[in-house]
Amino acid sequence: MSVASRPTAGAAYELAPYKSLDNGALQARIAAVRASLGSRLLILGHHYQQDEVIAMSDLRGDSYQLSKMAAESGDCRAIAFCGVHFMAETADILANQPARLEARDGRRVTVVLPDMAAGCSMADMAAIDQVEGAWEELGEVIDTADVTPVTYINSAASLKAFCGRHGGIVCTSSNARAVLRWSFERTSRVLFFPDQHLGRNTAKAMGIPLEQMPVWDPHHDTLGGNTPEALKASKVLLWRGHCSVHQMFTPGHVDLFRAKVPGIKILVHPECPMEVVDKADVQGSTGKIIREVEAAPPGAKWAIGTELHLVNRLKHEHPEQEIHFLSPVVCMCATMYRIDLAHLCWSLENLAAGTPVNIIRVDDETARWSLVALERMLAVK
Ligand code: 13P
Ligand code: SF4
Repeated sequence: MSVASRPTAGAAYELAPYKSLDNGALQARIAAVRASLGSRLLILGHHYQQDEVIAMSDLRGDSYQLSKMAAESGDCRAIAFCGVHFMAETADILANQPARLEARDGRRVTVVLPDMAAGCSMADMAAIDQVEGAWEELGEVIDTADVTPVTYINSAASLKAFCGRHGGIVCTSSNARAVLRWSFERTSRVLFFPDQHLGRNTAKAMGIPLEQMPVWDPHHDTLGGNTPEALKASKVLLWRGHCSVHQMFTPGHVDLFRAKVPGIKILVHPECPMEVVDKADVQGSTGKIIREVEAAPPGAKWAIGTELHLVNRLKHEHPEQEIHFLSPVVCMCATMYRIDLAHLCWSLENLAAGTPVNIIRVDDETARWSLVALERMLAVK
């Protein structure tokens, strides 16, 4: 089981007073901790974080880039992860892998998540007992030795460990295709969880027909709601999970922008439903979305389908382009948004005082097997 090992009791500072400080005061105090800890502290920020938090981050990236940064975290002693729970778990596993620990004479990197309520609703859609149950049930119909389990990085460490134990692998939105290719070099089938959309969009782009992608519903009593024949005919078994943020974009939004803004290009994240991705000009991870905009000439017109904070930041950073949010309704990741300057300042000052709060520490056995699946991913080109 993954655990946050230290409760806030015993902390030098309580959270409540930080909430009444204004941003200027919080920024100054965060800057003071950064100055005092220097290279011993690394603040990582996911692209969906609020601007104020991004401004305080040493490095920012998409899920894949952040994993690599944690794996290469050098001599830092602590990582404050401005993102969500599964990202902090991944950072803990990679920063404290045996080779790194040995190079640091056994000293662990303390990974903290400024607000423990920063989870991911998609990750919560696949629990380890559900995945283990599905695997067992599948084994009654097909040979699971011929199935590679692939977990999207947006999942609990226990699922990554499951993949490590069963010859499987982790993927992110930036390498899902390469990971599926890797999987099909080993087995003729894949079980992909928890995001059905990323799995479907990626497999479809590789030419796999939809009929060979049944969806496994973990809440269904028998075979995830499938017939034995459908499972036997499958190539990619998709898990019934999704991102509630990206699920809100629709093909109608794409049609509206195409009708309203001549020459507009539609740029979406692959967590969007297939019907949206099919109509888009470009799809990719948050990192790819940023690179596409950065490489575009002045006057380029975009409607972007991903989390609101990132789209708004791109708008401000690129006034020479016309950037729209793809949906007329607000699609923001409420859990990412929980990380604010008050929580960041509180967690950093406790770190500096030697009473870290909200530590994310994956237990050794889970970390060991998760690392197997993560290393397979990091080795895939
Ligand atoms: P990427 O940053 O890897 O594109 O992932 C987006 C996301 O939903 C993170 O939760
Ligand atoms: Fe999870 Fe979606 Fe938020 Fe990403 S955007 S952290 S997938 S809920």
